[in-house]
Amino acid sequence: MATIDTILSETRVFAPSEAFRKQATVSGMDAYKALCAKAESDYEGFWGALAKEHISWHKPFSNVLDETKAPFYRWFYDGEMNVSYNCLDRHLADKSNKTALIFEADDGKVTKVTYQDLYHRVCQFANALKAQGVAKGDRVIIYMPMSIEAVVAMQACARIGGIHSVVFGGFSAKSLHERIIDAGAKLVITADEGMRGGKAVALKSAVDDAIGMGGCDCVEKVVVYKRTGGNVHWDAQRDQWWHEAIIGQADTCEPVWVNAEDPLFILYTSGSTGKPKGVQHSSAGFLLGAILSMKWVFDHKADDVYWCTADVGWITGHTYVAYGPLAMGGTEVIFEGVPTYPDAGRFWKLIQDHKVTTFYTAPTAIRSLIKLGSDLPKQYDLSSLRLLGTVGEPINPEAWMWYYETVGQGHCPIVDTWWQTETGSNMIAPLPGAVPTKPGSCTLPLPGIIADIVDEQGGPIEKGQGGILVIKRPFPSQLRTLWGDPERYKNTYFPAELGGKMYLAGDSAHRDKDGYFWIMGRIDDVLNVSGHRLGTMEIESALVANPLVAEAAVVGKPHDIKGESVVAFVVLKGQRPTGDAAREVVAQLREWVGKEIGPIAKPDEIRFGDNLPKTRSGKIMRRLLRSIAKGEEITSDTSTLENPAILEQLKETVK
Ligand code: WT7
Repeated sequence: MATIDTILSETRVFAPSEAFRKQATVSGMDAYKALCAKAESDYEGFWGALAKEHISWHKPFSNVLDETKAPFYRWFYDGEMNVSYNCLDRHLADKSNKTALIFEADDGKVTKVTYQDLYHRVCQFANALKAQGVAKGDRVIIYMPMSIEAVVAMQACARIGGIHSVVFGGFSAKSLHERIIDAGAKLVITADEGMRGGKAVALKSAVDDAIGMGGCDCVEKVVVYKRTGGNVHWDAQRDQWWHEAIIGQADTCEPVWVNAEDPLFILYTSGSTGKPKGVQHSSAGFLLGAILSMKWVFDHKADDVYWCTADVGWITGHTYVAYGPLAMGGTEVIFEGVPTYPDAGRFWKLIQDHKVTTFYTAPTAIRSLIKLGSDLPKQYDLSSLRLLGTVGEPINPEAWMWYYETVGQGHCPIVDTWWQTETGSNMIAPLPGAVPTKPGSCTLPLPGIIADIVDEQGGPIEKGQGGILVIKRPFPSQLRTLWGDPERYKNTYFPAELGGKMYLAGDSAHRDKDGYFWIMGRIDDVLNVSGHRLGTMEIESALVANPLVAEAAVVGKPHDIKGESVVAFVVLKGQRPTGDAAREVVAQLREWVGKEIGPIAKPDEIRFGDNLPKTRSGKIMRRLLRSIAKGEEITSDTSTLENPAILEQLKETVK
């Protein structure tokens, strides 16, 4: 992979500027090392003190960490608090008129919301949810466009102890259906349509379709935010407009005090089987991770304008849109649209217009914007920026350098943040006033995060060698379990081979002579396409569900912009198609996967064979398929193959 070759030979180092270091919350390498040392010498004392300092507790905790039922860890478990209280109420005394949200719609319309306004909106909607029958512990599916209302909906759930599960608006009705059932949701919150790049995206109709697929008797109500006013089908018994649901509801609402360990949300993510995993996060531990990373990694300051471009449908949009910036009492930008509409200068214009200081986006967005106009940032005033971040996938040094020089104008540190849906907040990332950065490396773990690289038995590896990435001690923001599937939680993340207590991240990595981490990629059957996580098995199951398909194998292939692209090898029930017929089936199957999972999962390439390369015991040889997809010469021994002739067929692409 191009990225890996270039990062292996990367030697540039960028120390924080004197000016940045001076003002930073954690200033200088010694300060960073002191924090790490503190965590190592008294692990519980370290986390306990931070939780006391940064979270407003309704009932203080007296115990920090319970490991008796490892790997089902509990943190601060006799404390009571409320996440929404921590994001809103506690700022009202001195920040009620401060702007909390700057929302920019697809068409450029800007709406600003102060902390006082946001508090009232959240309270009013929380009361509306209660009136619809939502109580503590009930699950609420949120299938919304990027909007003020999406944040209000999440915060309102948190306020009343409801457990939200946000489903990305780009997922299909079928995916939504699966998540509604798995979560046993009582209520679904959606919008009539979203607006992206000047085009309406139907959301309510996907909810109708999902519920129409059956088995969703758990759903009592659907609350619909009117975004576009487009036509929607209406079920008078079940559907309720957002603007009507809040009529007559008080704009104050006493938070429901929850236990530190009560779930705040479930977020589904892909794994190595066909079934997505419902990652369950806690309230206090999750919030602490969000706050500490805002402070340490984003060096958050009172006058910052923070902008994380992630959709609330992903973990990044939870931690760094819906919760982290608000817990800090900060001002943040929320953007409805896409980076390329009306043109590829949109991000840069937003930064200029809202005087963004901290900008956090994905390498794939950076790479596509370089391609669409590497000089475009120069046409905008980006002087407000002081810190840049990346997340979701490895960043190639070339893109890093462009980001640093052209966007950050050589004076903004870049925080390359490694973490996952499961870890809840940044795990390995530079503290920008302390840790020198290297293009392509996420650098060093946050204080208190005991990350390491081990061999397959959990044993040590030599410095400089690659291995599997683990986190050796429990940490507050980690997932607590997989919703409804504790066994899968244990087996996936704390496998017995590693002793049952080490968190297995699922990535491979290596460390250089300075101890810096360089992420190499996933070790499981998970692809990272444009920073989105997709399971190869999920796509395969979608393909074989099509009546034309007998068998399918999906692999990733390096892609300049998306990081990875999806290549599917398909055996049809009928004859192997060629020419126009093949093109026709490719179009049909892509459409099909879009409907089964969502447009992000559509294979970029589909190839047909009379069979797939298998060992004599019938195992598909994915290693070979990956080589074929890349166009590599197959040099390895293929004599164990049942059917070597098949390889020639699979080299043929459908053009
Ligand atoms: C996987 C997690 C974390 C929020 C977005 C993705 C990859 C994530 C980096 C990074 C290299 C990264 C890993 C990880 N990843 N950040 N800075 N450098 N790889 O969350 O969907 O749970 O995916 O994304 O492979 O395991 P996710």
